[in-house]
Amino acid sequence: MWSKLIVAQAALAAAIPFVSRNPASVLYDRGTVAGFATPIFACPASSWPPNTIGKTNGPQPPSADLASILAHVDPGRIEATIKKLVSFGTRHTLSTQTSKTRGIGAARDWIHAEFQKYADASDGRLTVETVGYVQQPDGNRVTFATLISDVVATLRGTDENRLYVVSGHYDTRNTNILDYEGDAPGADDDASGVAISLELARVMSNPKYPVPKASIAFVAVAGEEQGLYGSQFLAQTYANSTPRVNVEGMFTNDIVGSPKGSDGIVDPHVIRLFAQGLPPLAVENSSKRESRLQIGGENDTPARNLARLIKEVAENPETQMNVSVVYRLDRYLRGGDHRPFLEAGYPAVRFTEPREDFAHQHQNVRVENGVQYGDLIEFCDFDFIARVARVNGAALWSLANSPGAPTNVRVNTTALTNNSTLYWGPPLAGEANVGAYEVVWRTTAAPFWTDVIDVGLVNEVTLALSKDNVVFGVRARSKDGSRGVAVLPFPAA
Ligand SMILES: *[C@@H]1O[C@H](CO)[C@@H](O)[C@H](O)[C@H]1NC(C)=O
Ligand SMILES: *[C@@H]1O[C@H](CO)[C@@H](O)[C@H](O)[C@H]1NC(C)=O
Ligand SMILES: *[C@@H]1O[C@H](CO)[C@@H](O)[C@H](O)[C@H]1NC(C)=O
Ligand SMILES: *[C@@H]1O[C@H](CO)[C@@H](O)[C@H](O)[C@H]1NC(C)=O
Ligand SMILES: *[C@@H]1O[C@H](CO)[C@@H](O)[C@H](O)[C@H]1NC(C)=O
Ligand SMILES: [Zn+2]
Repeated sequence: MWSKLIVAQAALAAAIPFVSRNPASVLYDRGTVAGFATPIFACPASSWPPNTIGKTNGPQPPSADLASILAHVDPGRIEATIKKLVSFGTRHTLSTQTSKTRGIGAARDWIHAEFQKYADASDGRLTVETVGYVQQPDGNRVTFATLISDVVATLRGTDENRLYVVSGHYDTRNTNILDYEGDAPGADDDASGVAISLELARVMSNPKYPVPKASIAFVAVAGEEQGLYGSQFLAQTYANSTPRVNVEGMFTNDIVGSPKGSDGIVDPHVIRLFAQGLPPLAVENSSKRESRLQIGGENDTPARNLARLIKEVAENPETQMNVSVVYRLDRYLRGGDHRPFLEAGYPAVRFTEPREDFAHQHQNVRVENGVQYGDLIEFCDFDFIARVARVNGAALWSLANSPGAPTNVRVNTTALTNNSTLYWGPPLAGEANVGAYEVVWRTTAAPFWTDVIDVGLVNEVTLALSKDNVVFGVRARSKDGSRGVAVLPFPAA
């Protein structure tokens, strides 16, 4: 007789030590000197073929400016922001936009005013805009014409047309998606994400730090729960601008408020990062997809390589976090604000807490059978949210100070050879910021880059390493050491 086997979490935890249970969540063995050490991938799968060139691809430690930025992320400010957002009672997208104290309009105006305070203290580096459009009834979750507003604070970088976006949604919901009058505090979903946008804007726009090379947009969007409307509007606005805004990476922080599951188990030093595989066909046409499948490039899409970079720069003693990358667009049955960016052809990923408690999201505030339901601030952990903010901050600052990604990256596939010849062009912002190019690789079954070779300031290299056995990526490093995202080479004659 067949019966279901259910292995309880506690039994697993007792039986298998944590690191071997989830090796993908920990790239570096932190057991040794100064928090940085050897990779854990000294396993058979990645040790063949033997490496004769390059060196181990290690984490990128924070620069002095970045370490200071991370140290200034303040859990107290994050708590105050979430408290304020909860005080609007509901922030449902269809709720009142005329009250000064209740509903989404009041929340929007408060967020704008708060960003404006940071802008006023920024020596003109940060500018704030509230942008939006009227969404007509959609026969689904929007029942009357509704103004959808996004609040966008932009820290202007020195390079032309390079932008990173960090976003959270300030709208909330109740059990009934159309209930726009009942209280819906939305502390975790998603005041926590909005608080990260605000806190990073405050710290990074401080004039004591150098202006980054790329611009950074700190964003709070509406309409997420009604159908990702605010994010879609923003992604389309960037995509349809002339010239098209070059969004090099977008992160949404959605439900990042607590490390605790309904079982009481806490993972205070882990954040999940969802990264999509194959882009939509509207973004990458069928001939490019065919080529991608031919070369085994399914796992090396722009979103996946953005996630790998985030992991390399955000796991360190300053963040005290492990980035647990999930190779999937999002959780089952759920959606998020990174999707409209992916659909617009931009690399985008989602941060979400490790152990979501479903009683504390999308639920009317109530007690049932002794269980407290509702997205209440008492379930938020502000130190945890600050650590997630630092993960975002480490990634944003490193990327914004990197030269961007090389373009037109190719591998020569004209002849059968054990060597691999790669070519590439400079990043879109030009070669002026590039200190050197690096080729990274890993065996095809390894999740993250294991090896790297510094090839200098060239646009072609031949490596004594067979492209049949590894996946390559080419990335650019700035003169002061900030690495950009690696790009998979496609076949070229
Ligand atoms: C598919 O996209 C590639 C660029 O990624 C382009 O060079 C090619 O012309 C496109 N093919 C078709 C049939 O549109
Ligand atoms: C994650 O990182 C922190 C500090 O950086 C460490 O203390 C912790 O043990 C790590 N592992 C897990 C699974 O949380
Ligand atoms: C690729 O390699 C072949 C020789 O194997 C060479 O003839 C060809 O010029 C190379 N392509 C480029 C773009 O350098
Ligand atoms: C290519 O590498 C294989 C080992 O993978 C080796 O047996 C073969 O001799 C090499 N061919 C050349 C031309 O070097
Ligand atoms: C392959 O690379 C090795 C080491 O760099 C070099 O000695 C050899 O000449 C290369 N062979 C070809 C065909 O490029
Ligand atoms: Zn959400």
